[in-house]
Amino acid sequence: MALSKQPYRGTRDFFPIQMRQREFIFEQITKTAHNFCFESYDGPLLEEVDLYLAKSGEELINEQIYSFVDRGDRKVAIRPEMTPTLARMVAQIHREFPKPIRWFSIPNLMRYEKPQKGRLREHWQFNADIFGAEKNLGECEILKLIVSILKSFGANQNHFEILLNDRRIVEVIFKSKLQIDTGTQYKIYKIIDKAKKVSADALDKMLSEYLQGDKKDFFLEYLNLKSFNEISLFIKKYKLEDETQDFLSFVSLLKSWDLETYCLYDPTIVRGLDYYTGIVFEVFDKNPENRRALCGGGAYDNLLQIFNEDPLPGVGVGMGDVTLTDFLLGHKFIPEIIQPPFDLLVAYMNQTAQLKALEWTDHCRKLNLNVELLLGEARPKKAFSYAEKKGHKGVLLIGENELDQTELVIKNLKLRTEKKFTLKSLDELKGFLCNQ
Ligand code: HAM
Repeated sequence: MALSKQPYRGTRDFFPIQMRQREFIFEQITKTAHNFCFESYDGPLLEEVDLYLAKSGEELINEQIYSFVDRGDRKVAIRPEMTPTLARMVAQIHREFPKPIRWFSIPNLMRYEKPQKGRLREHWQFNADIFGAEKNLGECEILKLIVSILKSFGANQNHFEILLNDRRIVEVIFKSKLQIDTGTQYKIYKIIDKAKKVSADALDKMLSEYLQGDKKDFFLEYLNLKSFNEISLFIKKYKLEDETQDFLSFVSLLKSWDLETYCLYDPTIVRGLDYYTGIVFEVFDKNPENRRALCGGGAYDNLLQIFNEDPLPGVGVGMGDVTLTDFLLGHKFIPEIIQPPFDLLVAYMNQTAQLKALEWTDHCRKLNLNVELLLGEARPKKAFSYAEKKGHKGVLLIGENELDQTELVIKNLKLRTEKKFTLKSLDELKGFLCNQ
């Protein structure tokens, strides 16, 4: 039986046309990350499973991880996320490193998921994290970075929103108001995660299993809060100010950092990964057709402790290429087809012209033009049709007649114009090929 030509379920082949789109997006993101002085890092594709067991959470470990036993009997996993690798790397060097550390990476990750719109088994994820920043400032900087990235593509607050919560609020409600044990807390976290996807009745029913009477009403009141103003009033009403100091000062920072217009308080954002300990957030497309999170992240204070290191607060974000591409295409922020960056095709019609074609090719390349020498003799029809299919802007065709000429004709394929150049005047070629 012949083998399938399709990629493994939930993964993608990136042909040049898709690759250009991916590169276009990542180059733009990288530019903004550099603009914020983040440094890039990378880690291995495989890690020991224990690294994820420590803090990533049950869903990732039980349902999504790709793991196997290697030839040396070690249980290893393909990285399903980057944060544990990053924490492991930071744990090695943080003592000698000037803080705050701000690093970014764009790894490919694998999770065993049911492939669907916005969810695949392999995706690329832009990660940006800050370690050792002063309270709340790392959180603001990460949000500012996301806003700048999305704005750099042309988006504004009409296109996306940052839904935000603080795990410390949920924790204080669990401990001091509901007095529930850790097992029940975990189950209620799962219910919160689903709260927006089910009807009010269904939510009531799910909660009733763990909370009754006043406790349930109180918790439903919390889950129905819809703004920073409402959560502030709620905190006052139930006298939770002492435990939520950091959150309240974070909210006032949002105003001064010009982030408030993008952010909305949402009590149902709790995040599925176990390591978050403070502010958590997800960014959503405002287009209801693309309701999957573009990115998610938050603050984690204790991740370095799994390596027996002193606590070093971290905060970061992961932005996946699948939902981001849907977002950018949906709002027409990127062209569906991105032309390759090719300037010129140099072709020769017979063997005697090959050396001259090579000389002109070398010369143009030295001028930083992207030039292809057509490998083999070509008639004009073949050369022009190849150049158009490949996306070249211009063609230089050399035959017998051009052999003793110092001036050669170069054609602009889009504008259908032509101009004569000498080797000396080739530095004007870029201007001639720019299609305006
Ligand atoms: P996460 O929420 O699991 O967080 O993933 C972050 C983003 O990656 C999601 O919002 C989504 O855009 C994308 N993503 C995740 N899984 C898939 C998938 N199966 N298919 C397509 N896209 C996906 C984390 O991974 C955290 N480690 C992020 C982080 C960095 N937190 C702090 N620093």
